[in-house]
Amino acid sequence: MMKVEYQFDKMADRTIDHARKWDQKIIQSKYPGTPKDCIPMWIADMDFPAAPPINEAFMKIAQNGAYGYTYAYDEFYEAVINWHKRRHGNQVQKEWITLSYGTVSTIHYLYQAFCQTNEAVIMNTPVYDPFSYAAKHNGLQVIANTLKNVNGRYEIDYALLEEQLRTKRPRVFLFCSPHNPSGRVWHIEEIEQVAKLCQKYGTIFVSDEVHAEIILSGKFVSALQLPKEYHDNLIVLTSPNKGFNLGGLKTSYSIIPSEKLRQVFRHRLEMNSITSPNLFGVVGIITAYNQCEDWLDAMTDYIRENYHYTKEFIEQNLPNWELMEMTASYLPWIDISKTGKTALEIVEPLAKIGGVIIEPGTNYASDGENFVRLNIGTPKEVLVEALERIKIFMAQN
Ligand SMILES: Cc1ncc(COP(=O)(O)O)c(C=O)c1O
Repeated sequence: MMKVEYQFDKMADRTIDHARKWDQKIIQSKYPGTPKDCIPMWIADMDFPAAPPINEAFMKIAQNGAYGYTYAYDEFYEAVINWHKRRHGNQVQKEWITLSYGTVSTIHYLYQAFCQTNEAVIMNTPVYDPFSYAAKHNGLQVIANTLKNVNGRYEIDYALLEEQLRTKRPRVFLFCSPHNPSGRVWHIEEIEQVAKLCQKYGTIFVSDEVHAEIILSGKFVSALQLPKEYHDNLIVLTSPNKGFNLGGLKTSYSIIPSEKLRQVFRHRLEMNSITSPNLFGVVGIITAYNQCEDWLDAMTDYIRENYHYTKEFIEQNLPNWELMEMTASYLPWIDISKTGKTALEIVEPLAKIGGVIIEPGTNYASDGENFVRLNIGTPKEVLVEALERIKIFMAQN
């Protein structure tokens, strides 16, 4: 079959989808006075148009004009099972899969299903903020298992983890695999070490794998690859939302091998009427998994180029910025402690004076005070302009 060429140099029009990332009302409310031509590198979605088969599938539905209630029909389960087998070598059974309305809301339901008020949950920090704010919204304690920065790469502190599991007895360990921020892909030995400790202390091991589809180097291994003995204590959360840029469809799913855990979890979903899914969300998952693998590979190649460009640019032009090793996703994580400034001291004036919006590390639960995060999921031309602006700003401030 002839290889299709995709145009990742082309921006989608982000006004039509009212993207929060680009929306002036949202930008001005957060950073008043930011120039209108600012470049947003904050919220984690990408600026490329989606894979053509996804757009065609949506147009077919729109041309037909029926938007009634739907359900998780067989093609959805088949697409998920086949994708996991083909792409990740995971053997997933149909009954393990439960559709839900986005991973963040699923985290809320999961905490509600398995934790009582004032109980604790544990996570490696810094981490994607909703892991901790979902806990706080539900009256739970957050235990931060601080990651160790070993030569620019995160490592898990197992001794500290064991101590925290033993003394605080958290109900849930919410693991981020690959990790956000930093894009660290965990090895199977590391995942097993965590799963083993969770099992020993009766903590449910939840692996959020939403960043697993964009792998820049090495190999992603899902927690579903763990030996069967860990399956009774395992919940995997995932979706094509990051890889195929479908976050606005608010559709995702969980994979829970244990019938016992599944029943508790599904009961909580039923209590909140998480039943009839979004029509486009289900079609998006099926089409992405069945027809868009070559688009994903081509897009990953493009991100890899952007990453190499960013890495070289930082090395040559931003001597006090230290990029952490990134092997997954499109969100470089940078240690700025050598600048002598905090993340907010850089991020706020960079928006208002420099015209580039990046994420301060303070947005990542804890332990991110000396970091900033970029979003390089954008055409190269936009990335180059943003980095040039950052260079000028850092030289003058
Ligand atoms: C680790 C992680 N989990 C979940 C999400 C969001 O998932 P969803 O849009 O399906 O709620 C993100 C978004 O960046 C993320 O980084």
